[in-house]
Amino acid sequence: MGSEPFIERVLFTEEQIDARIREVAALVSARYSPNGVRLIGVLKGSIFFLTALARAITVPVKIDFLSISSYSERRGAPGMVRIEKDLDESIEGDDVLLIEDIVDTGFTTRYLLQNLAGRGPNSLAICTLLDRSVRRIVKVPIEFRCFEIPDRFVIGFGLDYRQLYRNLRYIAVVDKDSLG
Ligand code: PRP
Repeated sequence: MGSEPFIERVLFTEEQIDARIREVAALVSARYSPNGVRLIGVLKGSIFFLTALARAITVPVKIDFLSISSYSERRGAPGMVRIEKDLDESIEGDDVLLIEDIVDTGFTTRYLLQNLAGRGPNSLAICTLLDRSVRRIVKVPIEFRCFEIPDRFVIGFGLDYRQLYRNLRYIAVVDKDSLG
C-alpha cells in the first residue's frame, strides 16, 4: 500500500476511511430515520464512497446517479455545469442526499442543488467524502463531510488522475509531474 513512486504521502488509509464512513453513516441514518433516504451519486468519482456509505446506512436507501460536464475557466466559461446523464427516477417528495467525492470550488454542488431543488424533493442535503474548502469560490451548505483536505492533488477511493487510480483503497497526495 502506498508504495507507488508517484505517491508523496498517504492522506487517509483504508482503515481510516472505513472508520470515518461508518461514523458519517450513523449520522445519516439518525437524520433520515425511520423513512430512509435517496442517495444521488455524481458520476464517476462518488461511486466508491456511495457504495461504502450505503452499506453502512441502517435506514432504507434508494440509489440513483447523474453525471455532469463542467467547463473549465480556460475554456472561457468558469463554473458552468450541465447534466450529461440525468436521474432515472423522480425525486418529488423524497429526502435526497447528494453524494460527492470532493467539493472544491463549489460550482458543481451549487448547480446541482439548484437543479434538484426545482424537482420538489421533501429535503435536499449534501454529503461529501472530501472537502477542499480552501479552493471554495461559491458558498455551499455541506451537511455531512468525512474529511477536510489541504490544497493538494489527491487520488484514490474514487478520485482519479486521467481516469486512473480511482480503485486505490486509500487516498494519497501525488506530485502530478511524477505521474507523467
Ligand atoms: C469532481 C467532483 C465534483 C466536482 C467538484 O468531478 O466529483 O463533481 O469535481 O468540483 P467543484 O467543487 O470545483 O465544482 P470531476 O469533474 O473530477 O469528475 P469525476 O467525478 O468523473 O472524476
